[in-house]
Amino acid sequence: MSEVHTHPVPEAFAAEALVRDEDYQCMYRQSVEDPQAFWSQQANDFLHWSKPFTKVVEEDLSKGHAAWFADGELNVSVNCIDRHLPARADQTAFIWEGDDPADSKHITYRELHQQVCRLANLLKARGVNKGDRVCIYMPMIPEAAYAMLACARIGAVHSVVFGGFSPDSLKDRILDSDCRLVITADEGVRGGRKVPLKANVDKALANCPDVHTAIVVKRTGANIDWDSKRDIWYEESVAEQGTECEPEAMNAEDPLFILYTSGSTGKPKGVLHTTAGYLLMSTMTFKYAFDYKEGDVFWCTADVGWITGHSYIVYGPLAAGAISLMFEGVPTYPDASRCWQVVEKHKVNTFYTAPTAIRALMGAGDDFVTKCDRSSLKLLGTVGEPINPEAWEWYYEVVGEKRCPIVDTWWQTETGAHLITPLPGATDLKPGSATRPFFGVQPALLDEKGQEIEGEGEGALAMKASWPSMIRSVYGDHQRMIDTYFSTFPGYYFTGDGARRDGDGYYWITGRIDDVLNVSGHRLGTAEIESAIVLHEDTAEAAVVGYPHDIKGQGIYCYVTLKNGREPSEELRKELIDLCVQEIGPIAKPDIIQWAPGLPKTRSGKIMRRILRKIASNELDSLGDTSTLADPSVVDELVDHRVNK
Ligand code: WT7
Repeated sequence: MSEVHTHPVPEAFAAEALVRDEDYQCMYRQSVEDPQAFWSQQANDFLHWSKPFTKVVEEDLSKGHAAWFADGELNVSVNCIDRHLPARADQTAFIWEGDDPADSKHITYRELHQQVCRLANLLKARGVNKGDRVCIYMPMIPEAAYAMLACARIGAVHSVVFGGFSPDSLKDRILDSDCRLVITADEGVRGGRKVPLKANVDKALANCPDVHTAIVVKRTGANIDWDSKRDIWYEESVAEQGTECEPEAMNAEDPLFILYTSGSTGKPKGVLHTTAGYLLMSTMTFKYAFDYKEGDVFWCTADVGWITGHSYIVYGPLAAGAISLMFEGVPTYPDASRCWQVVEKHKVNTFYTAPTAIRALMGAGDDFVTKCDRSSLKLLGTVGEPINPEAWEWYYEVVGEKRCPIVDTWWQTETGAHLITPLPGATDLKPGSATRPFFGVQPALLDEKGQEIEGEGEGALAMKASWPSMIRSVYGDHQRMIDTYFSTFPGYYFTGDGARRDGDGYYWITGRIDDVLNVSGHRLGTAEIESAIVLHEDTAEAAVVGYPHDIKGQGIYCYVTLKNGREPSEELRKELIDLCVQEIGPIAKPDIIQWAPGLPKTRSGKIMRRILRKIASNELDSLGDTSTLADPSVVDELVDHRVNK
């Protein structure tokens, strides 16, 4: 380990902060010693309840069970909008910055209320009832947030599918959760290029006979195919609806949304989050981890198609009455100064992005940053993958001018909100460490036998107790949730990550220890990519692993075995790459394909991925014991023909 350079909390920052170290210590202690009292108070401070809860938490992690505030009632859209109207109807809720730097607008809480009510009324008019699932496949435009909140208002369960997913992936997700209505746009616009969203929806819906309505926002005015029995224009349809919609009173444990994410086996799973616990934790972490103060402009660069967009563009910020910036484009368009131009233009106070973007912008050079005025910035954040100290220091020195703390927030789709994160007024920072647990969060490091490692050490990262925004189910397959998260280490939630704890009790995430890749902060299952590759008639078998990639964090390395008599060719390589893009989406595009006459397998036929990972990473000194392989000679062959030399 190279020497760690600790950055103490700047005194000026601590003086103004919501939480200082002594507050953190005291609140953390209470949160784990008396969770009932702690969470009861937080839930009453942060949320508006139409019916107060009397129970705080009941849990049994050995069964994957947790229920929070289970007899309380509330509505998420009321918490995000209506309750702010008396004080801040005219305050901006969203600043929208379009892909084209000339496009931007402000949406006030009053406008947000009207838009959400109109759309909620339209959904009801199209037959959507409480508990029904609605699919949202949208570009980064305010209507995406209206759609989520309109669902929440009437108690429908949204499933947002990232606009970069292919028609096939969209179809799978629509069918899995039995969505009957889809909200989309004619096209999206990203980095100056058009994304054919409606055409993708048309392809997906060809195999979804139960979808009766597609609501289409006109974003570009492109020519699109139209099914007059199914398709309706968003603008003209909402215009016919009233601007008031009575919110549905929801039980705290009623489902709020489903969000699909990749696992180590099988198809993506629909992570189910419920109402109160999710909203409480997303708004609380928003406020504390970002030290959010009235009037601050907060910018999270994620897409609403990921959990980061759910929790820190929409729900957390709005429930806190914040100003949330939503950006349609990409950090490098028109050029690598775009983010800093947006910071200057909208006087952004907090900027939250992924290490992959930081590394890409770092590579473009400092001039793109320094030519823009970043004096409004107070705080920086990162999420999605471990950040290398070099990128951290660049972010800190060049972007933040050594003035802004960086919060490295560790969490997952399944956790709903930050679980391990600095609180910027309380926590001294160590580049590359997500630092300490958030309130109520009790991490444990487990060894292979499932024994807890005390003090300094490294192991599998698990949680000893539930937290309010914990995953409640995998939609349609509750057993899969129990098997995936609660069976490896009975009595714990298992994250799939490895971590190290240092002498100060700080956590250092070492990355996934299952067969999940993290490519540019996006999660992909190796199994999904393998299934796509073997769809090709020439392929017999595929094994996919990650390898270190300078910008993306991990690259996708595929070993492909062809059927007898089939020959490798450049053309075939291209076909396999296209197949992955077609089946999953551009994020699944393989970086490297190696033709493999055979794969290293144990005598029982299990592929030894450990060896494949080492070869892909060019770590040939540590291949380990290969004597248990059915045919050890395949390893030499793969090493000789490795592509990443
Ligand atoms: C996985 C979850 C939740 C945000 C976006 C990703 C990795 C996430 C960090 C971090 C190191 C991180 C983990 C985790 N991860 N944040 N700060 N440091 N690794 O959500 O797609 O559900 O992926 O992202 O490996 O398990 P996700």
